[in-house]
Amino acid sequence: MNMFDKNHYYVEAKVLSNIRETSRVNTLVLKLNKSMKIEPGQFLMVWKPGDGEIPITPSLIQEDTVCLTIEKVGHTSNRLASLSAGEKVFLRGPYGKGFNLEYLGKYLLVGGGTGAASLTPAYLKLVEKNVKTLFLVGGRSNDNLVYVNKLIELNANIKIATDDGSRGFHGTLPELFEKVIAEEFFENVLTIGPEKMMVKIAEECYKKGIRCQVSLVRIVKCGIGFCGSCVLDPVGLRVCVDGPVFNAEEILGTDFGSYMRDDAGKRVEVTL
Ligand SMILES: Cc1cc2nc3c(=O)[nH]c(=O)nc-3n(C[C@H](O)[C@H](O)[C@H](O)COP(=O)(O)OP(=O)(O)OC[C@H]3O[C@@H](n4cnc5c(N)ncnc54)[C@H](O)[C@@H]3O)c2cc1C
Ligand code: FES
Repeated sequence: MNMFDKNHYYVEAKVLSNIRETSRVNTLVLKLNKSMKIEPGQFLMVWKPGDGEIPITPSLIQEDTVCLTIEKVGHTSNRLASLSAGEKVFLRGPYGKGFNLEYLGKYLLVGGGTGAASLTPAYLKLVEKNVKTLFLVGGRSNDNLVYVNKLIELNANIKIATDDGSRGFHGTLPELFEKVIAEEFFENVLTIGPEKMMVKIAEECYKKGIRCQVSLVRIVKCGIGFCGSCVLDPVGLRVCVDGPVFNAEEILGTDFGSYMRDDAGKRVEVTL
């Protein structure tokens, strides 16, 4: 690991606009003072001096413009998601392994919560390669759906699931997923979302012989493989360098879907 690698220097980014997605989620449109080469699924460490630094997977990447779709879950995410036009943040990265989009065949993208936004760069890359895609987006209700308008604007082929039936399929995203793959075969699945949801998708893919790539969230502090805070037990894979995107079969049977480490390194149950 070379600490002088250019990816460890911060790039300054100015907020061009802050778009409200839902009551808990906002998208920051950022203008970078230096362009970054970010592959779909890779993440950035986003630092607001005085408020902390957190990992975020960009939801749009266009030369020196990057979008970050952020759910307000705690202190730093709340502060970042509340920034106004003209304010600055600092980005380091990109880090980790993104999606492998070289596999042949059709792709089914499954995004829960902010996952739909984080999958959008992969979707755009697949469109560029003329690959057939279907995008499944889910949320508790119509009011909780993230990035649906953006995906419609991008002409994505989408199906929506809401737990309360207020829009699209009445049921959970894994239920819609099972229905879709019973009707049509996809060679590839990409998923980002709540871990309990992703483990269901990954297990179903494993049973059906579908190649599935999962983007995993753990507590990322250094982002460069040093501190061990993002480790996946018991196999010792580090989300920040070995992931965040993993082939599902690599992590099924580990703590994926059941346990993670908290801020203090204690093993705790995955609840979402
Ligand atoms: C590779 C990666 C990509 C991510 N991409 C996105 C994204 O695109 N959009 C988005 O909204 N969120 C994303 N997250 C999750 C986001 O980083 C956390 O929600 C954020 O760090 C919470 O920080 P906080 O200070 O707001 O909350 P805290 O008060 O610190 O904690 C609130 C919750 O967030 C979890 N958390 C805290 N710190 C981290 C951390 N450093 N890494 C992971 N989880 C943490 C805690 O376990 C707790 O459950 C990503 C996480 C990873 C690892
Ligand atoms: S966050 Fe430090 S090793 Fe992964």
